[in-house]
Amino acid sequence: MTGDQTRVAHGPSTASPITLAHLSDPHISCMEDITARDLVSKRLFGYLRWKLHRGAEHRSSVLSAFQSDLKQAKPDLIAVTGDLTHLGLPAEYKKARQWLQELGSPSQVTVIPGNHDAYVKISWHQTMAHWTDYMISDAPRKDDQKANHTANIFPSLRIRGCLAMIGVSTARPSALHLAVGSIGAGQLQNLETILAHTTQKQLYRVVLIHHPPAPGIVSRRKRLTDAADLRSMLEHYGAELILHGHAHRTLYNYLPTPTGNIPVMGVPSISALGRTPERRARYYIYRIMPGIDGWDVRYEVRIYSPGANCFIRESEQQLKNPRNAIRPALTSTGQCPRSK
Ligand SMILES: [Fe+2]
Repeated sequence: MTGDQTRVAHGPSTASPITLAHLSDPHISCMEDITARDLVSKRLFGYLRWKLHRGAEHRSSVLSAFQSDLKQAKPDLIAVTGDLTHLGLPAEYKKARQWLQELGSPSQVTVIPGNHDAYVKISWHQTMAHWTDYMISDAPRKDDQKANHTANIFPSLRIRGCLAMIGVSTARPSALHLAVGSIGAGQLQNLETILAHTTQKQLYRVVLIHHPPAPGIVSRRKRLTDAADLRSMLEHYGAELILHGHAHRTLYNYLPTPTGNIPVMGVPSISALGRTPERRARYYIYRIMPGIDGWDVRYEVRIYSPGANCFIRESEQQLKNPRNAIRPALTSTGQCPRSK
């Protein structure tokens, strides 16, 4: 175990925040090997969109610049909130796995899928099976023994020091013109158990989800169909932070609850050159530490600079209106308790 891994597993001291990088929607593609047979499905629609404008937007050079920047930043943890692939081609899942391995180990990098990762119905073994170790919970549930479907993996729970990363899958195939997502009744039921458990443990709960749960952010054809169910659950149990992708632009919203607002933070695609400034590739680095009166959370926004072909710091801010009903449970020395 490396020094970094030790720090993550045992939790940060009050003098050393845990750092979490959030990025989304790389849309890794393999268009050079595509055949006519591959396009007999919704993929034809996605392929044409790629040729018309998306291929010019999602650049491997931007992804390379991001990876160089991340190596310098050295976050403790990394969250990837979906759309790792573009057309759901088997080659894209393999390529995305290689990319994940370059980012970090499965214990450091947490992945949830997006709607593009369930673009068409093809076998699990050709698709998300390549990412299983980046998606599963720390302690596999009974169903994880047969981790052959997102329904057997999500919601996931990974605890690192004071942080509980709760992964929710909204990925499911949809009609040609749709990019909707759904959580489903079974996953919502298990999510309730996880939220109740992590509330009791007084952990800083980060919910990872591809589709934004706040209303009115994306159009109806891109919506989360059971967002209202999720919102009412979060209103009851709370969460400290929600991270999402899907909208391909910078977003800051919040979900109101009786005990405080939950920040809902969305990032643009990490491979986007940026048709408009708000869509240019960015990732966020959260620095989270327990404080005397709640959580002390700051975040740095790093944005792609096309002129310099590198990522630079755009801003650094304190997270406004963090939900503070849940106080960190600290040891007598001011540290987070051991996570396991
Ligand atoms: Fe996307």
